[in-house]
Amino acid sequence: MTADLRFPRDFVLGAATASYQIEGAVEEDGRGKSIWDVFSHTAGKIGDGMTGDVACDHYHRWREDVALMKQLKLKAYRFSISWPRILPKGRGKVNQAGVDFYSRLVDGLLEAGITPFVTLYHFDLPQALQEDGGGWLRRGIVEDYVNYVDVVSRALGDRVKFWATFNEPWEFTWQGYVTGEDAPGLKGDAGAALRATHHVYLAHGAAVRALRENVPDGKIGIVLHLNFVEPASGRPEDVAAARRFEGCQNRWYLDPLFRGSYPADMVKLYGRYMPEIRDGDMEQIQAPLDFLGVNCYRRSVMADGEELPPVNIHRISPEGEYTDMGWEVYPDGLYRILKYVNENYEHPPLYVTENGAAFPDIVGSDGCVHDERRIHYLSEHLARVRRAVEEGIPLRGYFVWSLLDNFEWAYGYTKRFGLIYVDYATQKRIIKDSGFFIARVAESLR
Ligand code: FCB
Repeated sequence: MTADLRFPRDFVLGAATASYQIEGAVEEDGRGKSIWDVFSHTAGKIGDGMTGDVACDHYHRWREDVALMKQLKLKAYRFSISWPRILPKGRGKVNQAGVDFYSRLVDGLLEAGITPFVTLYHFDLPQALQEDGGGWLRRGIVEDYVNYVDVVSRALGDRVKFWATFNEPWEFTWQGYVTGEDAPGLKGDAGAALRATHHVYLAHGAAVRALRENVPDGKIGIVLHLNFVEPASGRPEDVAAARRFEGCQNRWYLDPLFRGSYPADMVKLYGRYMPEIRDGDMEQIQAPLDFLGVNCYRRSVMADGEELPPVNIHRISPEGEYTDMGWEVYPDGLYRILKYVNENYEHPPLYVTENGAAFPDIVGSDGCVHDERRIHYLSEHLARVRRAVEEGIPLRGYFVWSLLDNFEWAYGYTKRFGLIYVDYATQKRIIKDSGFFIARVAESLR
């Protein structure tokens, strides 16, 4: 291993997954339907016509998967809890079998010396709540979410100390309620995303309080998708467009948490699309946090355009290397977004909670997966992470997306992000070369 990938001993190196992307067993042990079950079963929504019905069958194979994490020498594992496994209808009767599943998983991780990082919401809303007033569009959902968080944190809070309330609110509000590319697949205007976001943020603030009560020694945070944004050219129109996109995706989510308000320039731009904000809302949202999770895969180069009205941008693809997702490989973007957060906000310690790359992996004739490009991607990004740590940015850990190849939302099983290859026909797992690479980096932290 090259010297520049050595981290402080207490640095956390882990891998991440999400419930719907790996668990499968969608009708087992009393689990209710989520919006992703309905979306993936709707013709034409998923590129390859696949669903998460079986996924990586992790619900049955979790012991094997924990053993693999151990082989990769991971210190931590970030996974999400499926709300409809805990409360099949979103509220009401608790499904004990669902709680028990996560409880066993947590015990298994702790026995293996792996710290669990729980994400309470990673896109899979109970379908029953979608049908009740449009999911996150209904302000009363805040109460349902807090009740769910209360149930989970009471059950696991004695053993789980790291809790993230939400994963990537920008993604599931804009892509779920405006562009329709993700569940629930609605095609609305910006007002729908902003209203959903406001309710998500109220739910976040209320949940932080519940978590503090149930897990007094817990570390509570949230995970945002943040990209470093640059204008496509020096033209004033493009510079302004980049600033608008940064406002839409980054500042709209950072400012309420760490400054107590939505950014004024964006409030003005959104105008009639602004959600109703009641007295006390912004105070509720600004609950102090113990960490901020940053998910970052690429940079965003923006020109003036017509996408996402009234943000009105157009994404540009500069010359360079691209992953199988069509995302530019730009490691400096990760460093620069961490620095951006550090310079612009009074923030708690940071974790990179997702970073990684999809490439069209194949199993070689030797039975191995030689994913050199992923090793290159990860080592270049880890080098930027190390630079951030060295410069004193309070960055405490890094999670690779993902532990396993899995159900990549609207792309189905066509995109492979894993450190571990999954042969979906047999559910056989094969550690890729990048998995062994991560194990070598992780070794120095043990
Ligand atoms: C992120 C999601 C994660 C995965 C990666 C590739 O936006 O949080 O579930 O799909 O992208």
